[in-house]
Amino acid sequence: MAVVRETNLGVGNLRRGKVRDCYQLENYLLLVATDRISAFDVVMPGGIPFKGKVLNTLSAFWFGKTGNIVKNHLVSTDIDEIISQVPGLAGQEELLRGRITLGLRAETVPVECVVRGYLAGSAWTEYCEKGTVAEASMPAGLERSHKFETPLFTPAIKAESGHDENISIGRMKTMLGRGLSEQIIETSLALYNSASEYAATRGVLIADTKFEFGLIDGRLVLIDEVLTPDSSRFWLAGDYRPGVDQKGFDKQPLRDWLQKLTDAGKWNKTPPGPELPAEIVEYMSGLYRKAYKILTGKEIA
Ligand SMILES: Nc1ncnc2c1ncn2[C@@H]1O[C@H](COP(=O)(O)OP(=O)(O)O)[C@@H](O)[C@H]1O
Ligand SMILES: [Mg+2]
Repeated sequence: MAVVRETNLGVGNLRRGKVRDCYQLENYLLLVATDRISAFDVVMPGGIPFKGKVLNTLSAFWFGKTGNIVKNHLVSTDIDEIISQVPGLAGQEELLRGRITLGLRAETVPVECVVRGYLAGSAWTEYCEKGTVAEASMPAGLERSHKFETPLFTPAIKAESGHDENISIGRMKTMLGRGLSEQIIETSLALYNSASEYAATRGVLIADTKFEFGLIDGRLVLIDEVLTPDSSRFWLAGDYRPGVDQKGFDKQPLRDWLQKLTDAGKWNKTPPGPELPAEIVEYMSGLYRKAYKILTGKEIA
């Protein structure tokens, strides 16, 4: 599987995110999930085989499952259908098959909508430091990976540094208004609960996940990527043990390798990222494929 790191499709207006190449058309958007991988907010050289296809196809899978809860941006992931809408893409089928989404272009809501069923990641760090999660006080003595009685909505914003910064729900309401905030919170929790119910049938726990929303004609729309290993922490239910860190499908092995490099004084977490060894690339590719297989029951093609 050839790695796709950057695309130049020759249509629309190109903006490159960390992972996706976004081509803005009038009312539509072409989202191309590349095989780029970032860690510590630095995009690494090279790419992870199958990664873009997993992210794109898994998002489409979840858009299909959750369309009854909230409208989403997905128009099509079928390359032939997309070419009939955007003829300029003709001839690039092989490059784009499986990794492209034609979506409705929305005005993005500038809040990352994180739902947490378990105490992990930045929430665990915050809890250890301050006894709070997203600035809300929590009972003392919770253990790592604790399952919350009811899932928590913990918003974040993209800070100047590029890092995500957790904010309070109060601050979200000041930014977006009360009505929209409440609608977003309710929708995010409904999405999380419904997805968790499905994931449980596949032996998977969704420890936490991040949704992004947009507005089209004032109506709330789910956009971006949904319930992928990049936006979520998936754990195998059979391996779950509260009190310890869980081995999931996320980028932790890559982060651990980069941290060792940093500790050895060979990298300082600024661009350019180091060339990744073949073992890490293979391992990460395997993790993305496994996550896809376990959640959908199918191999990524
Ligand atoms: N339907 C949509 N309308 C407008 N913007 C969108 C839509 N879906 C996704 N986006 C934006 O496209 C970008 C996706 O690229 P990505 O590589 O994930 O970027 P980032 O580095 O910001 O995470 C994000 O900035 C996301 O907010
Ligand atoms: Mg993104």
